[in-house]
Amino acid sequence: MADPERGQLAGRTAAITGAAGGFGRELVFGLLREGAAVAALDIDERRLESLKDECSERGLAARLATFRTDISRYEDCAEAISRTRARFGGPDILINNGAMGMSVIRRDHMARLIDIQEISPEMWDRFTATNYSGAWYMTRAAIDGMLAAGWGRIVNVTTSFFTMLRTRFHPYGPAKAGMEAMSAGHAEEFAGTGVTVNVVVPGGPADTPMVPEESGFDRQALIAPSAMVPPMVWLCAQAGGDATGHRYIAADWDSSLEPDAAAAACRAPIAWPDLAHNPVWPGGRPAE
Ligand SMILES: NC(=O)c1ccc[n+]([C@@H]2O[C@H](COP(=O)([O-])OP(=O)(O)OC[C@H]3O[C@@H](n4cnc5c(N)ncnc54)[C@H](O)[C@@H]3O)[C@@H](O)[C@H]2O)c1
Repeated sequence: MADPERGQLAGRTAAITGAAGGFGRELVFGLLREGAAVAALDIDERRLESLKDECSERGLAARLATFRTDISRYEDCAEAISRTRARFGGPDILINNGAMGMSVIRRDHMARLIDIQEISPEMWDRFTATNYSGAWYMTRAAIDGMLAAGWGRIVNVTTSFFTMLRTRFHPYGPAKAGMEAMSAGHAEEFAGTGVTVNVVVPGGPADTPMVPEESGFDRQALIAPSAMVPPMVWLCAQAGGDATGHRYIAADWDSSLEPDAAAAACRAPIAWPDLAHNPVWPGGRPAE
């Protein structure tokens, strides 16, 4: 284990949403091990308590705070950021990882896909507020502090393009597509300020509670939740801060390589920039 006092993230504060879930817990452990102070945010208080216990057992609880936060509500996000700032300063790092999975609608949704008639308008709104607006709310609440400090890392966890476009995978897929597009725009908006914006995806279904047993997968064949940690730590620690506007596929991270080489081998630009041009624009090109 890295010495937290000398870890790559010593002196930094991270706010992580969905922190009590499958990936979230591993990210909390990983960032604490690297010396960051961590505000673990989740809607599920019971799971936050067990996260706290597990951090204590691992000797990692000294720089951990847990705040119950519903990211589908802007007021909760703003409060989580101010409580984080009051406790540790920052946050310098924001990981937008919290989300609802399709099993909220039906647990066997992978084996038997979900038709539009099964989705109530209220459910659509809840998904989009959580899986799309939540990342914007957190970014909106945290960005001024990062810009004032001239340093920030925002990492958004979206999903594979396959899932975004998959039939009968609504509202999850389209909400994540919105988050991906927002990430591209924010990377450009904050370029040159010291605040970077990147996307990390696992690269396929992972062995977390979001993929229920009813999916029928061999759990051993699923991506391990710890796969998200190396690209995330590299991005958050990355001293030069020149990695922005990228999308990293965690399953493709090759630990036998030096971290810079592993990062270069598993990244592409965020979203679908090759398609992002207008065939027609009055007067020539849009303002940059
Ligand atoms: N597991 C996969 O196969 C997979 C694949 C691609 C992307 N992802 C993404 O990875 C991220 C983490 O997912 P996971 O697999 O660890 O799932 P998970 O269900 O284990 O964790 C998600 C966490 O988000 C929390 N959450 C849900 N609604 C919330 C709200 N309104 N406010 C705050 N927290 C809320 C849940 O309580 C849970 O702890 C998600 O963004 C997910 O979309 C997962």
